[in-house]
Amino acid sequence: MKIIRSPKAMMAWSHELRRAGLTIGFVPTMGALHDGHRALIRAARLRCDALVVSIFVNPTQFGPKEDLTKYPRPISKDRTLCRAEGVDVCFEPTTKSMYPDGFQTTVSLPTIARRWEGEARPCHFSGVATVVTKLFGIVRPHIALFGQKDFQQSALVQQLVEDLNLGVEIVIRSTVREQDGLAMSSRNVYLSPKERIVATTLYKSLRAGAEAIRKGIADGEAIQMMMAQIVKQEPAMTIDYLAVCDPRTLEPLSLVTSRTVLLGAVRLGSVRLIDNLTVTAPAKQT
Ligand code: PAF
Repeated sequence: MKIIRSPKAMMAWSHELRRAGLTIGFVPTMGALHDGHRALIRAARLRCDALVVSIFVNPTQFGPKEDLTKYPRPISKDRTLCRAEGVDVCFEPTTKSMYPDGFQTTVSLPTIARRWEGEARPCHFSGVATVVTKLFGIVRPHIALFGQKDFQQSALVQQLVEDLNLGVEIVIRSTVREQDGLAMSSRNVYLSPKERIVATTLYKSLRAGAEAIRKGIADGEAIQMMMAQIVKQEPAMTIDYLAVCDPRTLEPLSLVTSRTVLLGAVRLGSVRLIDNLTVTAPAKQT
């Protein structure tokens, strides 16, 4: 496995591969790789000739009060995982090479980024959209894989690629969960043993919401309140948002009639957990 640190060298490598007619698969990450990333890497490996994983803790998607400096960076463990999964290139650019002096372009998607994570984390999505656009320009992948765990991010990347004609096929893979249902996340390492036990409450509330929809409950507000009641039973948890939304626009639904996404974000101690479930309402009997 090659480790490439400079965007220029990465571009040259991709250029050669494209010239040889090979397909490039790409999994962008911020490192601290877990089984969710592993699943993305494995799925990507099957769909391309050459596979690139980027490891870059992107400062522009962190707010001033967020965990940029303490974000986990177990680089040698990450490289070992990539090597074991047959990754061809680990692209590990420095911040300076990604954002040199004079850098000024930003990419933003104001509508899709307006609610939920966008409201809780102003600037987060313009940081994500800007770095993903840059990474696509450097790696020049044919296909890129993202996890459904960050549902709003996945929707945003799909919109970005369509709006800017980036010509990258986007594949979204379902969330990988721990045995008790907790969605895998690089930030789960911050949970204390006690917090880890109650962390599944968010998933339980989403599951209850999905079950209600499957049983025919269509009132978006009632479903939202039912999910909130479950989270409120856990005193250590506070709700940032729980929402019943259209999976494409991410706008809240007052009436659930077809495919729906249940979105949730909660705070547990110093950790913010997000999760989601998609569900399809049963067809109406005529
Ligand atoms: O999901 C992530 O890890 C990041 O937001 C991404 C897509 C790698 C951009 O920094």
